[in-house]
Amino acid sequence: MHSTGYRTHNCGELRLGNAGSEVTLSGWVQTVRKFGSITFIDLRDRYGITQVYFNEGMNHWLDAHPIGREFVIQVTGKAVERTSKNAKIPTGDVEVEVTNVNILNAAATPPFTIEEETDGGDELRMKYRYLDLRRPTLRRNLELRYKVNRSVRNYLDEKGFWDIETPFLIRSTPEGARDFVVPSRMNEGQFYALPQSPQTFKQLLMVSGYDRYYQVVKCFRDEDLRADRQPEFTQLDCEMSFVAQEDILAMFEGLFKHVFKDIKGTELTEALPRMTFDDSMWHYGNDKPDIRFEMKLRNIKANNEVFCEGIRGSEFGVFNNAESVIAIAVPGAAEYTRKQLDELTEWVKRPQIGMTGVVNIKCNADGTIKSSVDKFFNEEKLRDIAAFCGAIAGDLVLILAGAETRTRKAASELRLEMGNRLGLRDNAVYKPLWVIDFPLFEYDEEGSRWVARHHPFTSPKPEHIELMNDLSRYAEIKANAYDLVMNGTEIGGGSIRIFQRDLQEKMFAALGMSKEEAQEKFGFLMGAFEYGAPPHGGIALGFDRLCALLGGQEGIRDFIAFPKNNSGRDVMLDAPSSIDESQMEELGLK
Ligand code: AMO
Repeated sequence: MHSTGYRTHNCGELRLGNAGSEVTLSGWVQTVRKFGSITFIDLRDRYGITQVYFNEGMNHWLDAHPIGREFVIQVTGKAVERTSKNAKIPTGDVEVEVTNVNILNAAATPPFTIEEETDGGDELRMKYRYLDLRRPTLRRNLELRYKVNRSVRNYLDEKGFWDIETPFLIRSTPEGARDFVVPSRMNEGQFYALPQSPQTFKQLLMVSGYDRYYQVVKCFRDEDLRADRQPEFTQLDCEMSFVAQEDILAMFEGLFKHVFKDIKGTELTEALPRMTFDDSMWHYGNDKPDIRFEMKLRNIKANNEVFCEGIRGSEFGVFNNAESVIAIAVPGAAEYTRKQLDELTEWVKRPQIGMTGVVNIKCNADGTIKSSVDKFFNEEKLRDIAAFCGAIAGDLVLILAGAETRTRKAASELRLEMGNRLGLRDNAVYKPLWVIDFPLFEYDEEGSRWVARHHPFTSPKPEHIELMNDLSRYAEIKANAYDLVMNGTEIGGGSIRIFQRDLQEKMFAALGMSKEEAQEKFGFLMGAFEYGAPPHGGIALGFDRLCALLGGQEGIRDFIAFPKNNSGRDVMLDAPSSIDESQMEELGLK
């Protein structure tokens, strides 16, 4: 019973057992259908839809008080068994014969239809997000998000983690993106940075002895947006003390399985597979492999080393001059037409992919072989290459050649694209795994310097610390860092941390930071390390991404109640916006 009198039941609640009783419902008008002297209204709220009807007498009332879509009304009447039942909705056995109606609020005609499939464009729906959120798809997404949140908290509470809040007005935390900054009125000319993550705070909490920390927390990163990125997003951020990598992987594998069971109802009994970063790059061309399908990269030649005999001794300059030649064998695609192959060539030439073309070998179902380069390779050689690529009759081998980094990335994109085209990336299939043994550093071509691959608080593998003295060997240094990956998306990442001042100093020095700069920026953390810092490590999961994936989607926007658009704008609030002159002055920005 709902005590306000607005309703006795919600719109998803009535069943056959309620037939005969008087009920009151309140909700939004989804549709109004008139059949002669009877009018049917589908009344909707968060819980569902109930059909109510106005018989002849009540219909007169309706004539005088027209009710349109999205009006908020209250109806009272008798619940009755429906003659034509609707098996599609849980309330479909009953309807309400209305004897009293009360218009609680009228509604303007909504700018798009509020149904599963809407006719509203992206921007329009963003502008009227509160209406879009009435659609069942979005409502289900947010319900799922709430449930994932609850599930995560249940697991971590059970394991003794404390939810501790950390500040938003801080100094820059390096996670590889630009900071959003906030001017300080009281300290004119100075700025706070919004956290890219609570990284340093959670480490300080370990120094304080809190042992197991977590937070479902907003993070802010000023970076270029993509379907799986928002400027403000949510992390499930965690840290533990007295742990090694194995403890963290076990704890969060447990968390993942717990959430998966709660949300999907399926027990994942097997241990999550693990793949090293190097293997992932070699076989999949990226560090977040989609292992729902095979089609692994075949390294015909990599870093100028020839792996497939078939390409030796030909006159084909494209392969001979390339640093790397990488192929995939696309199952069952030998029947690709000339037109389709031309279109694929255009696809790899797009600036995002950046290749000059793609070589193909068709391993026809009848056993014959045909290639775009049969001028340069005789049949025997072509068969050799195709066999090296693992192609069988019916397959299409696609080969890219060029500089190692670009070619590997392009091959990885091509693999995913072909996976999409062949329907091998089914969102109802879940293939999580750990990617481990990440490099500590990566070379930033643009800045011509080494940067931390994860972040500068990540510890090198103890046996690799020595190598930090030799710049020429930086690429070989591996970190105790790991990512949780699912279906080609990085859900989360973490590491075992540096917890001694001298190693942390060494790390900052390796990143080209002077002692003074390191002290200025991170003196607080290194200072804390001098007062009894325990060994510690942790992980952060992208909460929006986790929810989206569990909801069977890649884009995170529709799993966030009020997201930003692709240019980082809130089109409903029209933010960011300019501020008053006086405000500028007060902040010392004039
Ligand atoms: P990292 O930077 O890998 O690690 O972030 C952790 C996870 O957060 C998600 N994520 C994002 N989601 C949506 N929009 C974004 N812009 C965005 N950026 C990141 C990803 C990512 O895997 N402090 C470390 C964690 C640690 O070491 O414990 C950190 O923030 O799913």
